[in-house]
Amino acid sequence: MRPQLDNLGKLLAVLGMAAALLLMNIGFAFSLDTNIQGDAGPSPVVENGAWQPGFKIIPTDAGMYAKAPKPLTNVQCGQCHTEIYHDLKSDGGRHRFSCQGCHKRLHEYRPLKNNWQELMPKCNDCHTVPHGKNMADCWACHNNPHAVTRIPMNEAVVRSCNFCHGDKFEELRKFPSAHTKVACSKCHTKHGFLPNCNACHKSHYAGENFATCASECHPVHRPREISYKRDVNARTCGACHEKIYVRWLKSPSKHAAVNCAACHGKHGYIPACSECHPQPHSKKLLDKFPKCLICHLDPHDPPVKQRGR
Ligand code: HEC
Ligand code: HEC
Ligand code: HEC
Ligand code: HEC
Ligand code: HEC
Ligand code: HEC
Ligand code: HEC
Ligand code: HEC
Ligand code: HEC
Ligand code: HEC
Ligand code: HEC
Repeated sequence: MRPQLDNLGKLLAVLGMAAALLLMNIGFAFSLDTNIQGDAGPSPVVENGAWQPGFKIIPTDAGMYAKAPKPLTNVQCGQCHTEIYHDLKSDGGRHRFSCQGCHKRLHEYRPLKNNWQELMPKCNDCHTVPHGKNMADCWACHNNPHAVTRIPMNEAVVRSCNFCHGDKFEELRKFPSAHTKVACSKCHTKHGFLPNCNACHKSHYAGENFATCASECHPVHRPREISYKRDVNARTCGACHEKIYVRWLKSPSKHAAVNCAACHGKHGYIPACSECHPQPHSKKLLDKFPKCLICHLDPHDPPVKQRGR
């Protein structure tokens, strides 16, 4: 951020100088009027070395120089460099140490010496190339040394997701889905930001908790590989399998207390009754009626003795 004058700045500077010259001329005219001795202005010292009467002598005070000045604290630097101070405070991360830790020399910039580069700290004063030689242009991505945790989503970063998160890239490629065609940065609009599904999708049912979609059912980088735990909310299944859901919900059978996902451990999987029930009937009966549902009819609402109904 080398200080530079833009065109407007240049124009203002020229106007300013013109105005200053004008003022100086007026001042000069005044002194001509009042200084009857001649053109040369008054000098504080007369020829014999004594002070001209009327000039105030500034007394010496060596005591003022007895102590070595203390280096300014970060807060003191921040009194003038407020924006930089606040950048470090909020997004400085592990750069939140002493300003002078980086700025060994400061307030020495002179445009005429063109010494900005020479003064400014360099990343490689302290760092090597942490992401490898292909990512040696630190500034391309870390564009503010005072706010290093704020990674911009610029082209350099967007182009490089795959280098650092190759596993996610691989996963999306290996399990083709509609998400494979969505750019990383469409979902991760800021570096490190984890999007909510509802930025792009409607819920299965009103009031569904979006925060758990990915962890409960759809691993987001392979959304077609649906997998869920045995206790996942049956209400979600009901959003698409409504008839079964309602029948199951109202069933007087003990199966109404068995969660959908406890039987259907994977989406589409049909369980065998024997996974949970040891043989309850005689072999003779089962030889004659090999399928349990011939008699029990519907696993979601098997007929049961209903006393009192
Ligand atoms: C981790 C190192 C580091 C720390 C700590 C640091 N700076 Fe800097 N600072 C830099 C670098 C690198 C630049 C060079 C920017 C450039 O080349 O444009 C810079 C540039 C500057 C500039 C001039 C450019 C501008 O943006 O105005 C000022 C002023 C400045 N720093 C003030 C501070 C102050 C005040 C602190 C402490 C509150 C501080 N810095 C802490 C690394 C640091
Ligand atoms: C009294 C106000 C004031 C204080 C205190 C102050 N600065 Fe500055 N600083 C300035 C001004 C004014 C400039 C020049 C204009 C600019 O770049 O904003 C400047 C420029 C700078 C620059 C860039 C140009 C150069 O010559 O180095 C750095 C780096 C810097 N300051 C760091 C610091 C640090 C670090 C501290 C604390 C140790 C600090 N400043 C304290 C006012 C201050
Ligand atoms: C005076 C030394 C110094 C300079 C100069 C410096 N750094 Fe650092 N930087 C550090 C230290 C120390 C850490 C903390 C390292 C650690 O904890 O392992 C750090 C950490 C970082 C981090 C991680 C921040 C975080 O909180 O996650 C980034 C990114 C970084 N530096 C980038 C840069 C870049 C880019 C530059 C050049 C513009 C730079 N640094 C200049 C000393 C420096
Ligand atoms: C293509 C973009 C890119 C380039 C180029 C780049 N970085 Fe980074 N860097 C990142 C991202 C993104 C992170 C992760 C930030 C986070 O932790 O959220 C990071 C993290 C870091 C960290 C913290 C790592 C850690 O494990 O804690 C340091 C230190 C760092 N970078 C230093 C540098 C330095 C020094 C350079 C130049 C030699 C550089 N980076 C070049 C994008 C880049
Ligand atoms: C230079 C390497 C680098 C680049 C380039 C990079 N990242 Fe990262 N990313 C990191 C590091 C390091 C972390 C911190 C990991 C941690 O904290 O466990 C991180 C963290 C993340 C996180 C948050 C992880 C979490 O658990 O919260 C997401 C999301 C992410 N990156 C996505 C991206 C995307 C999308 C891109 C491209 C736009 C990208 N990254 C570019 C290195 C990088
Ligand atoms: C359709 C949106 C979407 C796309 C496309 C996407 N992500 Fe993600 N990503 C997410 C969501 C949502 C999470 C949080 C997952 C969770 O909460 O379990 C996440 C988590 C992450 C994480 C951190 C969590 C972890 O498991 O380590 C990283 C790193 C990441 N994504 C990188 C990428 C990269 C790199 C790409 C592109 C190759 C990408 N993502 C593409 C939505 C997406
Ligand atoms: C940035 C937008 C975006 C975000 C965020 C997003 N998706 Fe998608 N997703 C899409 C697009 C685009 C499609 C394809 C069109 C469609 O089906 O709506 C899609 C399709 C899907 C599909 C169908 C996959 C296929 O191949 O048929 C599932 C499942 C899915 N998303 C789940 C999720 C989940 C779960 C989350 C949150 C963790 C999420 N998405 C976040 C954009 C997004
Ligand atoms: C977003 C809608 C949707 C949700 C939510 C959903 N399903 Fe499905 N399910 C379907 C569709 C569509 C089919 C049939 C097509 C297919 O899977 O290929 C199906 C098929 C099934 C099948 C197999 C049907 C057969 O004929 O073999 C079972 C079992 C099933 N789902 C159970 C569940 C369970 C249990 C849940 C909750 C954990 C659930 N579903 C959540 C849409 C959904
Ligand atoms: C006690 C175990 C069990 C429970 C609990 C259960 N199912 Fe089933 N489900 C089955 C069995 C067994 C079949 C196969 C029925 C057949 O072969 O006719 C089946 C079939 C299905 C089918 C496909 C057949 C059809 O009729 O369309 C869907 C869809 C389904 N179940 C959804 C659900 C949902 C949604 C829930 C929760 C509301 C649920 N199931 C609860 C065992 C169960
Ligand atoms: C995931 C385990 C599981 C599967 C698979 C399963 N059941 Fe059940 N079933 C149960 C549980 C748990 C009970 C309640 C047992 C108790 O409380 O004594 C039950 C009870 C029953 C009852 C008694 C109902 C009542 O309300 O008294 C019948 C009949 C029954 N199951 C038939 C079947 C049939 C037929 C199948 C296969 C189509 C099947 N079950 C599959 C877990 C399962
Ligand atoms: C010929 C008809 C028939 C067939 C086939 C049949 N059952 Fe039954 N089952 C019944 C009858 C009748 C009852 C007693 C109902 C009652 O007491 O309410 C019963 C009761 C049950 C019970 C409840 C036992 C208890 O102690 O509460 C279970 C569990 C059960 N059957 C599972 C199965 C399974 C698993 C199969 C397939 C391997 C199967 N049944 C095949 C007729 C049948």
